[in-house]
Amino acid sequence: MNMNPIPAREGNHNLQDYEKTYNGFNWNEMKKQFSWNSTGKVNMAYEAIDRHAENPDTKDKVALLYSAPDKEETLTFNELSKKSNQFANVLKKHQIEKGDRVFLFMPRSPEFYMSFLGILKVGAIAGPLFEAFMEQAVHDRLEDSEAKMLITTPELLERVPQDKLPYLKQIVLVGGMKEGKQYISFDQEMKKASENFDIEWVDLEDGMLIHYTSGSTGKPKGVYHVHNAMIQHLATGQWVLDLKEDDVYWCTADPGWVTGTSYGIFAPWLNGVTNVIRGGRFSPEDWYGTIEKHKVTVWYSAPTAFRKFLSAGSEVASKFDLSSLRHILSVGEPLNPEVIHWGIEAFNKRIHDNWWMTETGGQLISNYPSLDIKPGSMGKPIPGVEAAIIDNEGNKLPPNQMGNLAIKKGWPSMMRQIWKRPEKYESYFIGDWYVSGDSAYMDEDGYFWFQGRLDDVINTSGERVGPFEVESKLIEHPAVAEAGVIGKPDPERGEIIKAFVTLREGHQESDDLLEDIRLFVKNGLSAHAAPREIEIRETIPKTRSGKIMRRLLKSWELGLPTGDTSTLEE
Ligand code: WT7
Repeated sequence: MNMNPIPAREGNHNLQDYEKTYNGFNWNEMKKQFSWNSTGKVNMAYEAIDRHAENPDTKDKVALLYSAPDKEETLTFNELSKKSNQFANVLKKHQIEKGDRVFLFMPRSPEFYMSFLGILKVGAIAGPLFEAFMEQAVHDRLEDSEAKMLITTPELLERVPQDKLPYLKQIVLVGGMKEGKQYISFDQEMKKASENFDIEWVDLEDGMLIHYTSGSTGKPKGVYHVHNAMIQHLATGQWVLDLKEDDVYWCTADPGWVTGTSYGIFAPWLNGVTNVIRGGRFSPEDWYGTIEKHKVTVWYSAPTAFRKFLSAGSEVASKFDLSSLRHILSVGEPLNPEVIHWGIEAFNKRIHDNWWMTETGGQLISNYPSLDIKPGSMGKPIPGVEAAIIDNEGNKLPPNQMGNLAIKKGWPSMMRQIWKRPEKYESYFIGDWYVSGDSAYMDEDGYFWFQGRLDDVINTSGERVGPFEVESKLIEHPAVAEAGVIGKPDPERGEIIKAFVTLREGHQESDDLLEDIRLFVKNGLSAHAAPREIEIRETIPKTRSGKIMRRLLKSWELGLPTGDTSTLEE
């Protein structure tokens, strides 16, 4: 395969700006673009929406372009500003105050975005949950965050264990009502609510958003982000997404994941562009159709989707007019060089990989429009970000040496807490370095190359799954005694989840049992957390202190040397 760098687009206007800003760039430069720089009044929802609604040149521009198979709807900045004001009034009426956690558990819809922005406007903290979560996953997140209110749909309500959530005081139902409890009707309350609202001005360091994400141990952790993150979202929207005034932008991620908020809400709207929202399942035809129909110019997706397009073949792509596309980006897992070469063939465009995490809140390493792409590399750090490969003591390693991918503290969108777990937060840092948990190296030109996770976190189709959460669910199954869960390499999904289990007395291995165990996780947690492979074993390897040795399971699975097993229990 051709591994030569792929040159940047010719005549890209960003190139010189990039070179200029990169040397000695200071985040204060970026602050000048915000209204609070002169007024002192801060709120993300104001900068993202209201500011454009107050401007006669942009107020009637389409902010949200909702496109679903059965429904299409557009909202201008002005309309979205009013709708989110209305919802903010609904929240106020129901005693939601600054700092309260208000969670959203529903499919992508215009109502989701009105609600989300309304939450920010009252100064509360939004907690979006992926619509495919099942009862246990929903419960753990609402319990840990002590969410006071949940916005959901009548269909999803059965996955909300209301009697086990003492802090949950109110439930707003979107798109229909249910008998029984005192539910709040989104539709009825919105009709009654005023379109004017006195936005709650907050501090840049006030809480705005919690995303739950997985580590290798313990339950999912609440990654807490503050309004200050907008500085990074505005900047990366320009440098990385390359957003310009007339762009039609489409980020395919669900807002239950951080890509769907940072780059599905904040970055596009802070930059005042039209944001395409499309829910539903993936199919190459529907997705290509969306690009063609709405003349999408900037498209942000994930390797798992690109690989599916690739296997669908270039003929499918050639049936659609994709000529509107100007800039394509990818995040979430390694972007195979093969996919980049295919992208050039199918779209006549380079796919720009970039790297970041839920915890970092925004892009940190990226292939800019103006950078030559080395296929397989995540690119270079953005201006104002210092990335390095360090050893376990925090010393920088020389080029081409593998180690911890680490970022110097202090970029604007960095998480500010792990909700209620300060020791967890501290454990991310070695001195001034935020340690990502990824291993990587940097080449002599300053490009970063991803090598793998250093912990046991699984990345399946770009979704981060903690083995502990799956193991905990598995052992709730009546037939399962012990469980160890690993990620197993897979050409399409990156990794699949493989579970090793031991059975309780009186249970025999059978295909039905294996399927029952798989469905138990799927129905209890979520489809993406369900193991695709389950193997019954006599024992699960553990350390003398009782920790499951997932690394050993993985070595066995892959037929690799087992390394140091001195801590293995007898
Ligand atoms: C983990 C973070 C950031 C939005 C989506 C994922 C992996 C992320 C890349 C990339 C290789 C990547 C890392 C990282 N990852 N981007 N460009 N190449 N791996 O957010 O769910 O918090 O997962 O995703 O392992 O640590 P997340």
